[in-house]
Amino acid sequence: MNKKIIIAITGASGALYAKHLFEFLYKNGVELHIVITENAKLIMKDEVGIDEKYFKKKNISIYENSNLNVKIASGSFRFDGMVVIPASMGTLGRIASGYSNDLISRVADVALKERRRLIIVPRETPLNDIHINNMLTLSRAGAVILPASPAFYHKPKGIDDIARFITARILNQLGIDNDLIPAYAGET
Ligand SMILES: Cc1cc2nc3c(=O)[nH]c(=O)nc-3n(C[C@H](O)[C@H](O)[C@H](O)COP(=O)(O)O)c2cc1C
Repeated sequence: MNKKIIIAITGASGALYAKHLFEFLYKNGVELHIVITENAKLIMKDEVGIDEKYFKKKNISIYENSNLNVKIASGSFRFDGMVVIPASMGTLGRIASGYSNDLISRVADVALKERRRLIIVPRETPLNDIHINNMLTLSRAGAVILPASPAFYHKPKGIDDIARFITARILNQLGIDNDLIPAYAGET
């Protein structure tokens, strides 16, 4: 598939969502660029039992979140979409404020200014006014807020099915065909 996607993994619960998205895109030949925050590395290890090495595959580029001196930090690097998954309220707040002091918030800033697809998959509950305001700011700036809020009408058999639901929704937003979850059929 002739697409370039940036996956940003931050320190919210739900690293499994990132793993599923990565696997689908990797299997389908998408050019992937991955940034993982230090907090995400700890949570990913704890929740899913994987570390950075899991993503170190042929043709995959991995970047340190602290290093802004890389090609994806520039508007001159053209990509088709960026997915922040799962998105912590911390990273979401940094993006919403335009603070751009780390690679993820900088690349997201670039995505918004260049009018490229930015999909943010927040995971927090309950939400306070600051979280809600930040999401509204981002949505108004052009981001898609796609909460890690799986449905159950497809009768998931386990957590992988639940994660696949969110992957399918993200792929729809990226314009990538998939049959991970059958479309809701309604009454027949
Ligand atoms: C085990 C654990 C789970 C966490 N889960 C969440 C979460 O679901 N959502 C969230 O917004 N923050 C969560 N946090 C807090 C973030 O990790 C924290 O705000 C951090 O500063 C985010 O940094 P990052 O966005 O650079 O990864 C969690 C922290 C820990 C240690």
